[in-house]
Amino acid sequence: MKAVQFHGHGGHDVIQYDEVPEQPPGPDEVRFRVKAAALNHLDVWTRRGMPGIDLEMPHTPGSDAAGVVVDVGENVERFEQNDRVAVSAGVACGRCEFCRDGEESMCVRYQIIGEHRPGVHAEYATVPADNLVPVPEGVDWEVAGSASLVFQTAWRMLVSRADLSPTDSVLVLGASGGVGHAAVQIAHHVGGEVYATASSEEKLGYAADCGADHVIDYTEKNYAEEIRSLTGKRGVDVVVDHVAGESWSDSLGSLAKGGKLVTCGATAGGQPHTDVNRIFWNQLSVLGSTMATPGEVDDALSLVWDGTFEPRVREVVPMSEAARGHRMLEDREGFGKVVLKPDSEL
Ligand SMILES: NC(=O)c1ccc[n+]([C@@H]2O[C@H](COP(=O)([O-])OP(=O)(O)OC[C@H]3O[C@@H](n4cnc5c(N)ncnc54)[C@H](OP(=O)(O)O)[C@@H]3O)[C@@H](O)[C@H]2O)c1
Ligand SMILES: [Zn+2]
Repeated sequence: MKAVQFHGHGGHDVIQYDEVPEQPPGPDEVRFRVKAAALNHLDVWTRRGMPGIDLEMPHTPGSDAAGVVVDVGENVERFEQNDRVAVSAGVACGRCEFCRDGEESMCVRYQIIGEHRPGVHAEYATVPADNLVPVPEGVDWEVAGSASLVFQTAWRMLVSRADLSPTDSVLVLGASGGVGHAAVQIAHHVGGEVYATASSEEKLGYAADCGADHVIDYTEKNYAEEIRSLTGKRGVDVVVDHVAGESWSDSLGSLAKGGKLVTCGATAGGQPHTDVNRIFWNQLSVLGSTMATPGEVDDALSLVWDGTFEPRVREVVPMSEAARGHRMLEDREGFGKVVLKPDSEL
């Protein structure tokens, strides 16, 4: 079978589409034929290499994919041949104090398929049965293969960590990215007024389609000042920030008294300048969030399967051109998700 692979860390030129041996499933695993997969920014970080993560090479990246079951291990009871499935990439140990508390994404041995272990950007993928969710008939493969990681992440950020209420106003940074466009849709569905930032008119138009009531081109205006002016100097109740870097202090500066900044990433830099005076005086909360629990995954994905939420496809890219897909994310080209399909499925 064919798989996206890299033999060492580096730029997008390290990515290949190689012939590799097929992996039969272990006793608790399922093998499925991939119909559609998707890129996340995580694939870029993994390809570049991250401190503390020593991958066996060659590595197949990829945390999102959906397809049809071809083979199940002897202990697997939940799935059988021809079932439609999608990956939920977080692997928890089930034994540590956090797992036992139902907080699987805080597991002390937490791993992500595609990051710490082989991923699913291939013609066939083999993953633990616990990492699959059923996909109802009628859901497009492109939707099934691109929703899981970003919708579960944005759901936990807003619904569980920020405890969003229907009257809470929300600012979503980087609304054109995978997590960002999912967060806009969730905030629109669950919360009050939604504000979104992005770097072009076109991206902002899509953000408005996803449910943003107000859009801000942060390359033209300082968004914290814009939020102050749009909210009568009050600020918003919740900021969703997966960008950090230089935006961090403006994110804090966009919050109302008692507001919550929830972060899951630091695409623009993880050591930003911060304003402690503002945090204590305005009684702000800074909340970290990573992936989601299986229950949160089910909640978020049920609203994808029924069409309430919809991952927007930037482009469908053949797996043999995965390097071009990586470049689109790094160059911030387009809006929503880059979908990858095995060339044999096109
Ligand atoms: N902790 C978790 O569980 C978790 C889960 C998912 C993602 N993440 C993290 O969250 C971040 C976003 O992931 P994603 O998959 O949504 O990424 P993505 O699809 O590539 O979107 C990133 C967006 O951020 C904006 N951006 C602002 N500054 C940027 C910069 N310096 N470089 C690149 N983009 C920049 C871009 O929009 P504009 O051009 O419009 O500004 C872009 O659309 C990543 O850092 C990722 O690792 C964490
Ligand atoms: Zn655990």
